[in-house]
Amino acid sequence: MHGQFGEDGYIQTILEAVKIPYTHSGVISSILAMDKVLSKKIFIKEKILTPKFIEYFFNKSNFKIIKEIQKKLKFPVVIKPINEGSSVNVFICTKSNIIKNLKKLENYKRIIIEEFIPGREIQAAIINNKKLGAIELEPKRKFYDFEAKYNPKAKTKHIIPVKLSKKKYNNLMDLALKVHRLIKCRGVSRSDFKFYKDKFYLLEINTQPGMTNLSLVPEIASYYGIRFIKLLKMILDDASTNK
Ligand SMILES: Nc1ncnc2c1ncn2[C@@H]1O[C@H](COP(=O)(O)OP(=O)(O)O)[C@@H](O)[C@H]1O
Ligand SMILES: [Mg+2]
Repeated sequence: MHGQFGEDGYIQTILEAVKIPYTHSGVISSILAMDKVLSKKIFIKEKILTPKFIEYFFNKSNFKIIKEIQKKLKFPVVIKPINEGSSVNVFICTKSNIIKNLKKLENYKRIIIEEFIPGREIQAAIINNKKLGAIELEPKRKFYDFEAKYNPKAKTKHIIPVKLSKKKYNNLMDLALKVHRLIKCRGVSRSDFKFYKDKFYLLEINTQPGMTNLSLVPEIASYYGIRFIKLLKMILDDASTNK
């Protein structure tokens, strides 16, 4: 299950109530990870580097929001919903096109405006509190958007193993495990990073990372010797209620 109701703590709450064991993270972790503002506040508190951001409520004048961005962030910025996924409604904006792009997100109550971090796109997976591995994505498109994620014709390059020094790779996996533990995730999680000027910026942690043919966790697992069926077994064996 993905997204609203499946990934954000709702179905988890129901399953807790009826005491049916379930896979992946529990109620609180699901809520926290799904809400980019809540989780980023926790990352910042724990000194985990994440792009600077503003939470935006669509109640300010165009003039005020541009002023606020200029005061707190630098253009270009990324605007995105707080609890979507799959890069849906994520836009990279300059000062000249931000107002037009903000209009596309008006149906969301609140959104996030974040400093754009150039550089490499690297994602790291944890399973059952152990480091599974990482993968780099090299989209041919402007960024790792919906098409780049799901349309094979977009020809996003998946690079595994990730080309990082051993030390940097260890830093990355330590960071992924730290975030997984911090949000108290269970089973599988996948953390999305940008790697720029030798630093990892955490974009988000996903408690229900994709499991399709093109998905990254199965690909990482398979590279590190865990076939799909074994991966499913590991996930299922860990299923429980929060207790
Ligand atoms: N601050 C940012 N700087 C650079 N690229 C970003 C930033 N935020 C998002 N992106 C791009 O958009 C993609 C989706 O953003 P992400 O925060 O992971 O949300 P989603 O939940 O939709 O996956 C990222 O994988 C990245 O390519
Ligand atoms: Mg993501």
